[in-house]
Amino acid sequence: MPCITPRLISIFAFLLSFTIVMSLLFYVTDLKDRGPRKVLTAYSPDSDLLNIPQEEPILIEHIQTKYLKFPNESKDTDEQKYKSNINLMFNDMTNGKFIEVGASEEFGSTQILVDSLNWTGLVVEPHPDRYLDITKLRHVHTANICISPTYYPREASFKSIKGYIKITCFPLYSVMAAFKSTNLDLLKLNLKEADYQVLKTLPWTKVCIKVISVPVKSKDISMVTKFLSNHGYQPNELTENTQHYYFSYKKDCPSNIRIIQM
Ligand SMILES: *[C@@H]1O[C@H](CO)[C@@H](O)[C@H](O)[C@H]1NC(C)=O
Ligand SMILES: *[C@@H]1O[C@H](CO)[C@@H](O)[C@H](O)[C@H]1NC(C)=O
Repeated sequence: MPCITPRLISIFAFLLSFTIVMSLLFYVTDLKDRGPRKVLTAYSPDSDLLNIPQEEPILIEHIQTKYLKFPNESKDTDEQKYKSNINLMFNDMTNGKFIEVGASEEFGSTQILVDSLNWTGLVVEPHPDRYLDITKLRHVHTANICISPTYYPREASFKSIKGYIKITCFPLYSVMAAFKSTNLDLLKLNLKEADYQVLKTLPWTKVCIKVISVPVKSKDISMVTKFLSNHGYQPNELTENTQHYYFSYKKDCPSNIRIIQM
């Protein structure tokens, strides 16, 4: 008998401390959950969406309702204004679709596709002043946002004539889906610092892009070239100028691809 008592005491002590630790854990977890639960809607502030991954419908709907703007319909008749042979690359194909990320210095090179070949385009431009110019001068859909280098939205600030302005960056895939164009004839990137990072975020089994363009001065241009070549792209010789490289997809879109279309 005498040797059993200390054993009982130690078992009891163990059970007691176990119970205390477990109840503490429950209490702490319960406290965390007690805050008001956020209901995310397309009208939630951008800051509530920073943890939402790129393929979530709520994020895509948010971009659609809050940021996508329709084009200024009055089309430009002065076709000579845009000196570009980008149309040759597409054999003067009509009714194509493009997304241009960051209005490039060679302003309006894609405009010939819109004005002469009836293409539909979306220009994404974060800079508040340049964004205004685009909505006035170009006949494309626009969005005053930036593109995130990750699978999630994030915030960035841009210097404008009115001081610093906070702009939300969204993943490229979410923007493509919001524009109902996960199949594109042309994706033109003008990020220079982040083209490679952004291309890496695309879910390649859910998009099909015929031509991808990146600036010659892109920071990781050799990585971009290698990356795109691994995804079935080859450099296109018919470049419109010396500012951008163009890469063409040399295969057909996989038949099992999940496309979101207009
Ligand atoms: C031009 O595109 C619009 C849709 O963007 C379409 O409704 C219209 O039929 C097209 N016009 C021609 C001539 O193809
Ligand atoms: C629409 O485009 C025309 C022609 O380019 C331009 O004169 C006009 O100011 C634009 N309208 C708006 C509201 O930006």
